[in-house]
Amino acid sequence: MTSNIQDFSRPKGGRYVGTAQRRIDGRLKVTGGAKYAGEFPAPGLTYGYVISAAITHGRIIRIDSSAAEAIPGVIKVFTYQNRPKIASDDKKYQDQTAPPGSPMRPLGDDQIAYSGQPIGLVVAETFELARHAATLVEIDYERRPHKTDLEAERGSSYEPKEKRSGISPPPPPRGDAEGAYDKAPVRFENEYRVAVEHHNPMEPHATTVVWGEDGKLTVYDKTQGVQNSQNYVTGIFGLKKDDVRVISPFVGGAFGSGLRPQYQLFLAVMAAMELKRSVRVVLTRDQMFTFTHRPDTIQTLALGASKDGKLQAIKHDAVAGTSTFEDYQEVVVNWSGLIYDCPNAKLTYELAKLNTYTPGDMRAPGATLGVYALEAAMDELAYATGVDPLELRLKNYAEKDENEGKPFSSKELRACYAQGAERFGWSKRNPEPRSMREGRELIGWGMATGAWEAQMMETSARAVLKTDGTLEVATATADIGTGTYTIMAQLAADALGVPIESVTVKIGDSTLPKSPVEGGSWAAASAGTAVQAACHTVRETLFNHARKMEGSPLANFGIDRVVFENGRIAVEGDPSRFVTLTDALAASGEAEISAEETTAPDPKTKEKYSGYTHSAVFAEVRIDEDLGVIRVTRIVDAVAAGRILNPKTARSQILGGVVFGVGMALHEESLMDKEIGRFMNHNIAEYHIPANADIREIDVIFVDEHDDKASPIGVKGLGEIGIVGTAAAIANAVFHATGRRIRHLPITIDKVMGAGEA
Ligand code: MOS
Repeated sequence: MTSNIQDFSRPKGGRYVGTAQRRIDGRLKVTGGAKYAGEFPAPGLTYGYVISAAITHGRIIRIDSSAAEAIPGVIKVFTYQNRPKIASDDKKYQDQTAPPGSPMRPLGDDQIAYSGQPIGLVVAETFELARHAATLVEIDYERRPHKTDLEAERGSSYEPKEKRSGISPPPPPRGDAEGAYDKAPVRFENEYRVAVEHHNPMEPHATTVVWGEDGKLTVYDKTQGVQNSQNYVTGIFGLKKDDVRVISPFVGGAFGSGLRPQYQLFLAVMAAMELKRSVRVVLTRDQMFTFTHRPDTIQTLALGASKDGKLQAIKHDAVAGTSTFEDYQEVVVNWSGLIYDCPNAKLTYELAKLNTYTPGDMRAPGATLGVYALEAAMDELAYATGVDPLELRLKNYAEKDENEGKPFSSKELRACYAQGAERFGWSKRNPEPRSMREGRELIGWGMATGAWEAQMMETSARAVLKTDGTLEVATATADIGTGTYTIMAQLAADALGVPIESVTVKIGDSTLPKSPVEGGSWAAASAGTAVQAACHTVRETLFNHARKMEGSPLANFGIDRVVFENGRIAVEGDPSRFVTLTDALAASGEAEISAEETTAPDPKTKEKYSGYTHSAVFAEVRIDEDLGVIRVTRIVDAVAAGRILNPKTARSQILGGVVFGVGMALHEESLMDKEIGRFMNHNIAEYHIPANADIREIDVIFVDEHDDKASPIGVKGLGEIGIVGTAAAIANAVFHATGRRIRHLPITIDKVMGAGEA
């Protein structure tokens, strides 16, 4: 960690950090000025259309593309038979976030491992022509039996041999969970399931490769990590970093689907290199269902407790589907050892191979599933013991991280419970199921806890102050709609005391200082710290010049005695004694002052403390008793996430997460036809996501939380915590309203009306 990071508790002269600021990129976005990967123009652009495998498992025995290639305007049909030579080593295909295994190689060979696998690319002068020509490509397959039913495969589940980097396996058992469970006066075991979900960002995945005369490629890619995409491309195609520049200034939603480089990137680069022309490949909405999804996961959760609700044993076992070629892993069960104080815990996580594409990270990967099961089970425990659900959580409050045996860097979850309950009016709840109603509507109130990791990653950033007083800050991170541009500008403006309007933020370009993918809710803490550090180095350089100016009013002061404000460096408490930034810069004789810094978490702090964000979610549902229609009429989400840089964009992050949680609870479900082995509702008409009419009141509270350990700027991250706990709070509210416990999400009308399982 660099030493020149300002203590965040005393931001001298800070005008912007901690205040509600509009998105600095908002105007570009609403006026159409913001360009996305599939929109960048290129001279002589050609269009690629992907051919997707029509079978689920087997191999291609014949491809005839002659009819397609005979059409004027069709340039080439790429298949495994004629694709250029590419890397054969798995490592070259393994991006920064890849799970262990052998990544799918588009057009790699004749083998098919899942429905929708890309098996061809038709390149033509127009998109329509390419799409039409794709229908003329004749393909014969040899089919083999497929496995797409997790229930049927759970018997062959296994513990992944190689662990995924950055993903903690379940902690070793503590105490004697089996023994304690058997002796517990109150005990029950249930199975919980959440439907497979697809990310469904508004912007489909797309790549535009601009072929340069010099053979260099400019690649506009929809991604959460430009340098991740760049490394993937250079590794596979044997190119140098200088040959490939990846740019992604705006991302129309990703939610994790842009963490791994996707096949449209591979195919567009391959075609551009072979044809020596610019190529664009845009996936269709149905092709957005042919890569990555939240994994199908069967969870069994057993709780043992005393009669008054003190936890004595937790057993949480999960079996998750993965592909036949990679062992995708996420943290599902560990939350059950973390969130509550319980002396005996046994947590297991296993995988089962399916003929689907490899599942992937989707907003709060693992936690959404595991915390849902835990929090639904805690609600069941509340009814079994007659203890109020909120009281039950307080009774089992974890003072430290018992998985790791460490204190928390900060944990204001008690304040979340208290402030959330107060705002919601929880004390007015009648505990009896079916006890609250208005007309035909049953009313239910439920609550749940949420938790997510507070992470920081090593990141580099550059700051450049120019003679005209403008400040540019740059790092290769992304803004996937989260507000990264805006918080970078706030931090930079405050660090140098300049108006936010004079700050330019550059991100989403592989030529910028090194940054990991934007994921795991770590971007604000990571890029924010790096940007601030770079600005502080500029600040010191500038101050040294200002002090040395002839007759400088600052000559006798150290940097800790001045404030940077309104484009000036002034003596603290005596604003009449100052040097302007532009004068100090002129005195330096330089055209600009620039600094690059790299910041990383302090390993000692990381080893000593456990960092998590927390939340308490309260939900009200109203259910039409005759029709079974559920409306989520009110959500209060009280969040403790350390320092809030921008309450406005922060609130938007939580709103988005909560809406995602409503989708998970009531709407979202990728339906697998087990006979065919394909997700059948591959469009937004049949894959339901919450629409405006589904969303009513969402009240977000940010609880004060001071954390000087999670990151140097006090930030713990917000992108993911909003979804965690939301579905459980809603499911618990549905039980309170109806007396029906529905453990398989989404809770659709048929389940409320009592058809099928409950
Ligand atoms: Mo997030 S699922 O790490 O983009």
